[in-house]
Amino acid sequence: MGESVHTVTALPTSRPPGCPFDPPAELIDARRHGPISRYTHPGGKPGWLITGYELVRSVLADPRFSARKELINVGDFEVPPAPPGEFLLMDEPQHGRYRKPLVGKFTVRRMRLLAERIEQITTECLDAMEAAGPSADLVTAFAKPIPAIVICELLGVPYEDRGSFQEQIDSFLNGETSDEELIAAYTATQQYLAELVVAKRANPTDDVLSDLTDSDLTDEELKGVSLILLAAGLDTTANILALGTFALLQNPAQLADLRADPTLTGRAVEELLRYLSVAKSFMRTTLEDVELGGQTIKAGTTVILSYNTANRDPERFADPHALDFRRQYGGHLAFGHGVHQCLGQQLARVELSVAITALINRFPTLRLAVPAEEVSLRPETADIYGVKSLLVTWDV
Ligand code: HEM
Repeated sequence: MGESVHTVTALPTSRPPGCPFDPPAELIDARRHGPISRYTHPGGKPGWLITGYELVRSVLADPRFSARKELINVGDFEVPPAPPGEFLLMDEPQHGRYRKPLVGKFTVRRMRLLAERIEQITTECLDAMEAAGPSADLVTAFAKPIPAIVICELLGVPYEDRGSFQEQIDSFLNGETSDEELIAAYTATQQYLAELVVAKRANPTDDVLSDLTDSDLTDEELKGVSLILLAAGLDTTANILALGTFALLQNPAQLADLRADPTLTGRAVEELLRYLSVAKSFMRTTLEDVELGGQTIKAGTTVILSYNTANRDPERFADPHALDFRRQYGGHLAFGHGVHQCLGQQLARVELSVAITALINRFPTLRLAVPAEEVSLRPETADIYGVKSLLVTWDV
């Protein structure tokens, strides 16, 4: 029998007004009661909610917790396995077979080489924003196009296809699209990527997808891998860029410190990642009975790992709800941990440092064009948290 434990009856669907950057109060409250809470999935199956930093980290390092999609046990329905190549929702050895050929493409060194190109892309976006100013929606002018262009170049999407391709992927990532539109956009993207894989095999160019045609992955698998890179790399980076700018504008002392001391950039990026944790939560399912935090989690139970609450755990981070670029830094979970730890984290870091630095230098008087409480936020039900639009203005 486990110790008495807090119960969370439903996951929150919104954040309280005036707290756009903090995890919902219910989750903070759950962690206050202890790192693990009993929870029933909306589909009726019993589960657990894990909110403490150490426990989340230990689950992510524990092979008894599976990421396999078909094991997800949240209601009385079958969940199909992840399609070929979509390795985020697979375990070893399948997961490693896909991840291994990709690792060398995302090293720190390779991403540093990409930095110059990211600077050019950022400059072009900021030039266009300035020319159309002195106000802009930072989401459409800055936060979305930069990671979209970067990922298109990385995958080798030809320039002439960029516009329509970006529109497609935007509609299936923006969290606002109807089910029918979502299916249409997903199908069109899959179709496009399938054709791109065939084209790269016939005429390899200098990009990740062409490189991968040398591996033993089939066309179908390469399509899945490309889709995962898009799904995992775009919305996350775009939302950190936009929400991160909002957070900077709401924390003028931190912004001033960063402007005055560019050597702070790396730490500022890590702190924004921790503080905002836009990839809020992921699921894992137990392969056997597991003792965790004084509780027994039965085999076949799906647990929710709240990365954003873990990243605000006061037992790990002093004064966790403060954005503090000079904090004594201590390994956040914004990129996860363990075998599924974000493959694109070095790319994300370079994109964030380059883009944020360029933005704050180009627009020293950048400010919100609407009251902060009118900035429209994504609902908690969206997989990735962020702002829908961020209207800003500046002096000319
Ligand atoms: C700030 C931006 C980003 C954040 C916050 C983020 C966050 C994450 C997190 C939390 C995971 C682990 C998921 C889990 O535990 O199940 C993950 C996995 C992954 N990310 Fe990212 N990510 C970002 C950017 C990127 C970029 C730019 C790419 C690539 C272009 C990328 C590619 C991936 C892939 C492929 C995985 C799956 C890894 C695996 O299953 O082995 N991510 N990301």
